[in-house]
Order: sequence, then structure tokens, then C-alpha cells
Amino acid sequence: MSKRDTFYITTPIYYPSDKLHIGHTYCTVATDAMARYKRLRGYDVMFLTGTDEHGQKIESKASAAGVTPQEFVDNIVIGENGITSLWKLMNISHDRFIRTTDDYHVTSIQKIFRAMYDKGDIYKSKYTGMYCTPCESFWTQSQLAGGKCPDCGREVQPAEEEAYFFRLSKYAQPVRDLLLNTDFLEPRSRVHEMVNNFIDAGLEDLCVSRTSFTWGVPVDFDPGHVVYVWVDALSNYITALGYGNDKYRDYEKYWPADVHFVGKEIVRFHAIVWPAMLMSMGLPLPKKVYGHGWLLLGGGKMSKSKGNVVDPQILASRYGVDALRFFLLRSFPFGADGNFSNELLISCINTDLANDLGNLVSRTTAMVQKYFGGKLPEQQQYDAAMDDALTAMLRALPEKYAAQMEKFAFQNALAEVFAVISAANKYIDETAPWILAKDEAQRARLACVMYHLLESVRVAAGLLQPFMPDASAQIAKRIGADALTWESICAFGALPRQAQVEVGAALFPRIDAASELEALEALHAQAQAPEEDPLPAPLPPIDFEDFSKVEMTVVKVLSCENVKKSEKLLKFSLDDGSGTPRQILSGIAKFYKAESLVGKTLVAVTNLQPRKMMGQESCGMLLSAERGQTLHLLMLDDSTPAGSRLC
Ligand code: ME8
Repeated sequence: MSKRDTFYITTPIYYPSDKLHIGHTYCTVATDAMARYKRLRGYDVMFLTGTDEHGQKIESKASAAGVTPQEFVDNIVIGENGITSLWKLMNISHDRFIRTTDDYHVTSIQKIFRAMYDKGDIYKSKYTGMYCTPCESFWTQSQLAGGKCPDCGREVQPAEEEAYFFRLSKYAQPVRDLLLNTDFLEPRSRVHEMVNNFIDAGLEDLCVSRTSFTWGVPVDFDPGHVVYVWVDALSNYITALGYGNDKYRDYEKYWPADVHFVGKEIVRFHAIVWPAMLMSMGLPLPKKVYGHGWLLLGGGKMSKSKGNVVDPQILASRYGVDALRFFLLRSFPFGADGNFSNELLISCINTDLANDLGNLVSRTTAMVQKYFGGKLPEQQQYDAAMDDALTAMLRALPEKYAAQMEKFAFQNALAEVFAVISAANKYIDETAPWILAKDEAQRARLACVMYHLLESVRVAAGLLQPFMPDASAQIAKRIGADALTWESICAFGALPRQAQVEVGAALFPRIDAASELEALEALHAQAQAPEEDPLPAPLPPIDFEDFSKVEMTVVKVLSCENVKKSEKLLKFSLDDGSGTPRQILSGIAKFYKAESLVGKTLVAVTNLQPRKMMGQESCGMLLSAERGQTLHLLMLDDSTPAGSRLC
């Protein structure tokens, strides 16, 4: 390479709504391995990752936690054990980390939104959806949980709000051509899914602004609207280079990106919406989007809400960061889903790392130490019959490995390396150095055998650098090798014959599977214990006078029935001591069967303004205790007379 070629690679930017799990780590480690591989090949690499911090979900979580959205995301992104410390722990070598709350990004998003608006590709219209009044949230039909608000479980009503739309439909044909006629999207299997399920099914214009919440980038020419999170998030790939801002000046140098690595469920945004946005802005398209598979646990996608996540910090602290990185890319084909299990993890570490690689390194260094005091003699005797096969494999390996890496086939690239490691272990058995060592006349031959082993270790360590940077450096040090450059990896014989070898502790100690599996189960169970619903934020103090305005009365349930056409409401007829039955409607049908409440002694607020619900009047409110998904009516001893006041 005369002038250094550039290579721009990205991970998705992660939602800081919860702690990240091993599935997120998988994608970031894969991107890191690719970035390190390209650096090894001499490229000028830009590796971008970051966090996608806006949107209603973050706003709601922050309010439930009683903090501001910014405080909420700061804690998850840069707080102790946050995302940035996880990437540090995992030895992720990103060149840039973008947060969508960064000022420069916000400035760029406003310009990008306006540019598409000026082009006539963004227009104002009405967004129809379902509205949850207490949460002040709009939901689409598909977002609803059993027809109810997915946040609070309450009824929602059809409603519409003013919103901006992006003319996605206008770009259906060019995007279709891009997907079908180029290598833009890989693996190819994902192309048909996109074309059939999304484009040919009818691509509708995309709603790109919201007025029902505020945690987002404001549309600068229409206050009250915030930019849709996906427009905000996708644009990170160019704003982080300085597009539309003065923070960086790397856009010309690195754009278009060489590849966006993304999980399969967000391919649709990257392969349809993102190219359409770039076409609208008149900007070049990324060269490739690669949709990788998911890590599954027990056959399902890991997710915090399902409580089946695996914590990468636990695994890294037990087995080491490099072993975990290696496991992720060695065990699953990147383009397809893979089933995570503790058994697989332990067997991968024991087989590949402890037995094959670890043994090769420790046997080789121990023999060089034992037979030659750590330094081989100059004089070595080659034996074509014994050595040719291994030498040929070592010479061919870098190219085979590179062919797989260029296809993002990490698992296959590692399989090539481990085929040579196995061959080297076999070579030890075939050449039987311990027998050669007994014969003084075989010293030059023994030295040659040892040199071949050291070279096998060196080439393997060189190619493992993108996957296990620290372990590879340690191995190189043990065999007295200099920096493992690509050129030296490709040059068999690059290790000085008299390199100083040192013996060290086992790099990857063998794990006792039975006891370790038990310990891991316990640790994962502990890590997955459901989080307590956060307590609501405390309310400001009130005067006694305010408190005493609330009339709380003991009531007895005379009758109780479900309100027709409502899944939520129960209608109560109550004895409040006045002699006239009082009617109250309460949204607790999910928690109690109507007939089970007849005769119970409850407490009601009896001086609330009457209001109509489902066409019926409700005169007051029953008191209940709520936390998370639970609700308990306040019930008193049945000897308490109806009409008693609470004070
Ligand atoms: O989607 N296995 O963020 P995110 C493999 N903010 N990959 C997994 C996984 C699993 N079990 N679970 C999650 C977003 N991922 C957006 C991206 S980009 C402009 C905006 C992957 O935090 C998932 O597939 O929900 C996705 O690629 C990435 O983690 C981020 O997910």
C-alpha cells in the first residue's frame, strides 16, 4: 500500500436503557477483531461505536427512576460498570465513541433534518396511533401489549398527532435495485427478507417526528417536535466524522463506510431507511451492511425483560477477557444465530485454548528451555520428509485466513489457525523431540524441530492478535518474537534463530467442567434476579391543611360487577354510611374478580369530583397500594363501621 487505504467500520450504537449483555458484547468484539485485523494489514482504520440515548423509552425509564434522562443515560454509559467501562474491560479498540446527546451530533441532526425537508422529502401530516393518556404516549398497534399501553398496562384510545413524514416510498425502487443488484447487504439471505417483507409489501412513508415526548433532538424550525430516534441514530455514522459539525474533520477521509455491522433485527433500518436518507441528502452510500445473527439462550433471544441475559463481566472475570472474546467468535458463525451455553464456553476454552494452543506454547517453550537453555543454536538440520508439510501449511495459512476474514467469517478464519496448531501438536508427536534429545548427534535436528514449533507458535499468535490481543502479545514475548506484523507473519523463518525463549505459567488453565458449571449457574441466576421496580420519586411536602381536604371514608361493597366492553373496569355499589349507595368505578379488573369483593370493607376518597368512565358516573376512588405490576386494595377489618372517616 503506497498511501494508506482507509477502512471505516461501525457497530450499532447501543441503547443505554439497561446494562449490556453478552449479545451486545458479541457484535462489538466482532467489530473489534475486524478493526484490529485491518490495522494489522496496514489500513488506516476508523472504528466507531457509541450510544443511542434519545427516545421515549429512555424518558420513561428515567422518570420511573426519578432522575433526568441525561442523568439516567450518563449513569449507564459512563457510570461505574457502564458501557464505556465494559468496552475497556473487553479491550475494545474503538477510535471514536459517539453519544447522540453530544452537542455536535445534535447540531448535525438538525441540519440533516432540515436538508431533507428543504429537498421536499420531509413533509408535515398526521400520525395516527393509540394514545395512553396517563403516560402521554403514542403507540402503534404493533407496540401495544395485549391491546394496552406497553408501559403501564392501561387502556389506550385512538388518536392522532401532527408529525413530519419522510418520503421513504419515493426511494423504494432505487433501494430495491441496490439490494438486489449489488453486494450492499450481506449475508445474501437477508436481501430477500428485506425485499419481500418490506419493499414489495409496500413501503410507506416514515413518521420522523414526535410531539408526545420531549427527550430527543428538537426540530429547530418547529419547536415541540423531536426527531424520530432512528433518524437521529442512523445519522451517527456521518456526524461522528464531522458531517454537519465542526467537531471532527474526517468525513472526506472515511465516508463512505466500508461496513456497518448490525444485528439482524435492525437490518431493515440500515438497508432500507439509511440508504434512502443518504439518497435524499445526495450522499454516497456505505459500501456494505452486514446483518449478523443473535446469540440465543435456551433457544430465545437474550433480553433483560425475559430475564435470560448473560453478563459478560462475570465471564471475563472468571476466564479472562481474551478467552471470552475468542469463544464468541470461534463458536458461532457470524451471519447466523448461535446458541450460547456454559457447557460450550467451557469446552471451547478447554479444547482449543488449554489443550491445543496452550499446550503447544507450553510444550514448545519448556523443551527449548530444557534442551537448549532457552536459546536455539544457529546450526539446524532440515528434514524434508518431516518438515515440508508443516512448513507448507504455515506458508499458506495467512492467505487462507485473510480470505475468511475478508468475508467476516471469523469462525472459519480461526478454524484455519487451529488446523495448523493441531498439525504442530501432531508434529511434536511425530518428531518425538525427547528421543532426539537423548542423542548428541541429533542436536542440529532437534534444534530444527524446535524452530519449526516456535515458528508455528509465532504465526498462530500473529493471526490470533485480532481475537486475543493480550494473549498473543504474551505468547510473542515467550518465544522472543518482535512485533507480529503482517509481513513477518507471512514470512516463515522471520523469527531470529537465536531468539530468547522463556517459560511461563499456563496461559489458559484447564477448567474443571463439573464444578465450574455449577458455579456459573449460580452466578447467572444471581445476576438475573429480577430488578425491583424503582420506587416512585418522592413528592414535595404538603401542608396539613391540604391533607385534611381529602375525605377518606370506610365503605362496604354491596355489589360489584365488570363494566361491559371494558377489560379493566369494575363497577362498585358501596355503603358509605349515608344510607344512599355510592357508585365508584375502578380499573382493577386485572387484579380482582368482581364477586370476590362483595362484602369487603374498603376505603374510598369520597369528595372527588364525580367523573364519567365508559359512560357511567364514578363518585370517588378506592384506595389501593401499587408497586410495579402488583395492586392491593386497602381492606380493613370487617368490624369497622361503614361511614367511618380516616384521619
Ligand atoms: O438496536 N445477540 O440498540 P440495541 C446478538 N440503538 N446481538 C445482539 C443481541 C444478541 N442476543 N442482543 C442485542 C439498537 N444485540 C439501536 C441501534 S444503530 C444506528 C441503532 C445487538 O442496544 C442488536 O442486534 O437494542 C443490535 O445490533 C445491537 O445489539 C444494539 O442493540
